[in-house]
Amino acid sequence: MDKAKIIIHNKEYELPLVKGTEGEIAIDISTLRDTTGCITLDVGYQNTGSCLSAITFIDGEKGILRYRGYPIEELAEKTSFTETAYLLIYGNLPTPEEKKAFSQRLTENSMIHEEMVRFFDGFPLTAHPMAILSTMVNALSVYYPQYFPAEFDIETFDLMAARLISKIRTIAAYSYKHSIGEPFIYPRPDLKYCANFLYMMFHSPVKPYEIDPDIEKTMNILLILHADHEQNCSTSTVRLVGSSMVNLYSSICAGICALWGPLHGGANQEVIHMLEEIHNGKLSVRECIERAKNKDNRFRLFGFGHRVYKSYDPRARILKAQCDILSRKLNIKDPLIEIALELEERTLNDEYFIERKLYPNVDFYSGILYRMIGIPTNMYPVMFAIGRLPGWIAQWKEMHDTKPFKIGRPRQIYIGPVERHL
Ligand code: CMC
Repeated sequence: MDKAKIIIHNKEYELPLVKGTEGEIAIDISTLRDTTGCITLDVGYQNTGSCLSAITFIDGEKGILRYRGYPIEELAEKTSFTETAYLLIYGNLPTPEEKKAFSQRLTENSMIHEEMVRFFDGFPLTAHPMAILSTMVNALSVYYPQYFPAEFDIETFDLMAARLISKIRTIAAYSYKHSIGEPFIYPRPDLKYCANFLYMMFHSPVKPYEIDPDIEKTMNILLILHADHEQNCSTSTVRLVGSSMVNLYSSICAGICALWGPLHGGANQEVIHMLEEIHNGKLSVRECIERAKNKDNRFRLFGFGHRVYKSYDPRARILKAQCDILSRKLNIKDPLIEIALELEERTLNDEYFIERKLYPNVDFYSGILYRMIGIPTNMYPVMFAIGRLPGWIAQWKEMHDTKPFKIGRPRQIYIGPVERHL
């Protein structure tokens, strides 16, 4: 294969090229410092590959997203979230026997330790559910202390993955019940993953909750679409933290914290605040767009733009269609849908957004669906975390399976004072 050539101070060096299965090419600069004394500089990792990965493929120009080779559109239509989770973590869709065993592990691990349940008493009712989630997930390492990956085998990993995937929805539902002062509802072994979550969230001893199949389907779609997105901020965080050989729970806790921010998984919450402001008359659509274009403030049009997608995010396309399907099925007329559609149309015709290739991303329509399901706004990033969890676990596993194993440790160019003395 061709090599890349680089000339530094008139001296030429050759660097190997690495080619992916979809034809992507990278220059392998891992020996650059030893041979040339230089490092590369790429603030915000805009053009830096941190690993070779066989999990998720994105073509940001064409708006393509595939997990383990399968188009996201097919997975959203034909699989359940737990099947997709299995696919991401283990590389293939489960056989019927594997599916049964995986579901069984999830069911057996769906409760949280009764001592941990008491932690909720210590959280203020106003606590943000993402703060609760990250705390509780890290606390799993207290109750299941397999601290160092080097100490455990695949069976232990399977168990840890099942514990996380199953308990995260129980923790999420309990944080909601805690915030509204209702008793916790224990998981039911006869319910599937999403139905069980909806039951724990919305059932109460005095008001039974009927599981609507359209809502259950929508939730499966939402979680599948969020399940992985290659080396984004939170996934890179999970890999970086995990690369110190810390346990899986703590690595995932770090990912949850990274996801919370409004530029990443917290954007879904901001989108709804923005649409509500427009609906309440505090802001017009035009003012909102002008504010987003104005560089004198840090306001952004939340739910728009993406580091990788320079065309319509395929996840946003599916969610937009699902908003239409669910609102018709449930006969909901949410004024925020009309506002979102108007905002999208205006921005897609606005020179600022066209020039910068800014399109709706996954967070633009997800909040509207969560609203229809009845999930409170501050829990939207939690829903993102539940969805993203299998991706984080798959990426953590892939990193640990890669030889040679390397701790993540970027370099820098120092620009502080040169040596000086007191
Ligand atoms: N509203 C207004 N301007 C924007 C927006 C936006 N939403 N997104 C990007 N821009 C502008 C940005 O100001 C910059 O303009 P200029 O070239 O004049 O300085 C240009 O577009 C390029 O943006 P960038 O910030 O360099 O792009 P990035 O790749 O570093 O950032 C992003 C990507 C997602 C952080 C950014 O688009 C953004 O802040 N979007 C709003 C928050 C959001 O919706 N986040 C969810 C992302 S999807 C879910 C996930 O995976 O996290």
